[in-house]
Formats: sequence, C-alpha cells, structure tokens
Amino acid sequence: MIRFTNVSFSYPDGTEALHDVSLRIDDGEFVFLVGPSGAGKTSLTKLLFCEQRAQAGTVEVNGFQLNKLRSRKIPFLRRTLGIVFQDFRLFENKTVYENVAFAMRVINAPTALIRKRVPSFLSLVGLSDKADSFPKQLSGGEQQRVALARALVNNPAAIIADEPTGSIDNELRDDIMNLLIRVNKIGKKTVIVITHDTDLLRRYSFRTIELCNGRIISDQVGFDGYHQVLDGGED
Ligand SMILES: Nc1ncnc2c1ncn2[C@@H]1O[C@H](COP(=O)(O)OP(=O)(O)OP(=O)(O)O)[C@@H](O)[C@H]1O
Ligand SMILES: [Mg+2]
Repeated sequence: MIRFTNVSFSYPDGTEALHDVSLRIDDGEFVFLVGPSGAGKTSLTKLLFCEQRAQAGTVEVNGFQLNKLRSRKIPFLRRTLGIVFQDFRLFENKTVYENVAFAMRVINAPTALIRKRVPSFLSLVGLSDKADSFPKQLSGGEQQRVALARALVNNPAAIIADEPTGSIDNELRDDIMNLLIRVNKIGKKTVIVITHDTDLLRRYSFRTIELCNGRIISDQVGFDGYHQVLDGGED
C-alpha cells in the first residue's frame, strides 16, 4: 500500500512541489497520475523511493514508514519498487543487457538467474536484438523500454512509470500499456502511470488522480480496462 497523509514537500531552493497531499493506493491497483507540467508528479515519485523526503506529513510505502526510515534501510524500500524515470537514468557506459543485469547484481541475484531473466525481460519489451547496444545508440522509445525492463526485472511489488509512453509512437504505446496492464492483472502488481497523454486517458480507463500546483484536485475511479482498444479500435 502507498499512503500519503497531509504531505507537503519543498525543494531546497524553496519551490513547493507538493502541498497537503493525501492519497491511498492499495496493492494491485492501476492508477494514472496526471496533471500539467510542474504539477508535482515527478516530485511525488521522488518521495516514494526516498530520493527526497517530505517536510510535513507522513508517507508509507509497501510497509515502510518513510519519515522514520534510516538511510541504510532505503535499499530495502527500493527493492519493492520498479521505477521508470522520466529521463530514463540509464548507464551510458553499459550495454542494454548490462543496464538490466545491473539492477539484479545490486541485489546480489545469482548469476544463473541474471542470465535467465535479463534476456526474457528484454524480449518482453521487444529489445532482444539490442542487448549489446549502448543507450546512445538507441531511440528514445527504445531507451524507455530498457528502463521498463530494468524496472520489472526484480519482480517488485509496485511499478511507477513516469511518462512511459512519452517518446513512442501509438502502436508501441499500446504495447507498453498492454504490458503494464498484464503486469498489473497477472503479476498482481500495483502500477502507477504518470502521464500527460490525454489520448492515453481516453483509451484506457483506470483510477485517475489529478495533481495541479502540488495539490490533488480530483481522484476518479475507472472501470479498469480499455475504452476503445478492445471495443472496436480507433476513435
Ligand atoms: N530539483 C528541483 N529543484 C527545485 N525545484 C524543482 C526541482 N524539480 C522540480 N522542481 C519544481 O517543483 C515543481 C513540481 O515539479 P515536478 O517535476 O514534480 O512536476 P511534474 O508534474 O513532474 O511536471 P512534468 O509533467 O513537466 O514532468 C515545479 O514547480 C518544478 O519547477
Ligand atoms: Mg515530471
């Protein structure tokens, strides 16, 4: 479960990114987090994995109370989360394979498991043929999919994807969404998709939390599925 209670957060320069935010996302939910540029979406993500800490309120993530969490426990929190960063954060000097494998190495996964899982997750995101490429040699959409494979590979309880369809075409966008929906439905994982993409919101119906100026301005239930995708195609 993810629970924010009266959370306010400002950056060191004084910019307030979140103001009195309260929300609860239960295990296994699929949620869109939306709102205009600068609304606080990425900042909220940074609080989830303790890249930043709230100055007011409490944050609970997968059983961890983040206000009280000691720095040395942060890796254990992060193991429960798979995050696709808006700017990908790939290692430029590592290959696609190594970028995904590294996420497993840092948690001391056995080599045999790494050799088995990395190719299967690269295949899942359609990048088997790019395993030996470096991030610089990839398109934005391909880099995004490497980041997605890396987020999924350790089987985390929750996936947070910041604009996962931001730099890809429509067909690939549906592939990524279908993959995330599968991860949610079959893998029973919490999925939070941060997006600006209004077309995405018209095609898929999930609970949608809207942030504006660091505040939650609406929180609407969805019917957990597709608007048009399965019902007859294009709008
Ligand atoms: N490192 C930082 N230092 C200071 N202010 C920041 C920093 N990062 C973001 N901000 C500010 O915090 C507010 C929220 O930014 P945030 O990145 O969370 O928005 P966002 O909703 O993710 O926007 P976008 O859709 O453009 O990604 C904005 O006013 C932004 O300028
Ligand atoms: Mg952002």
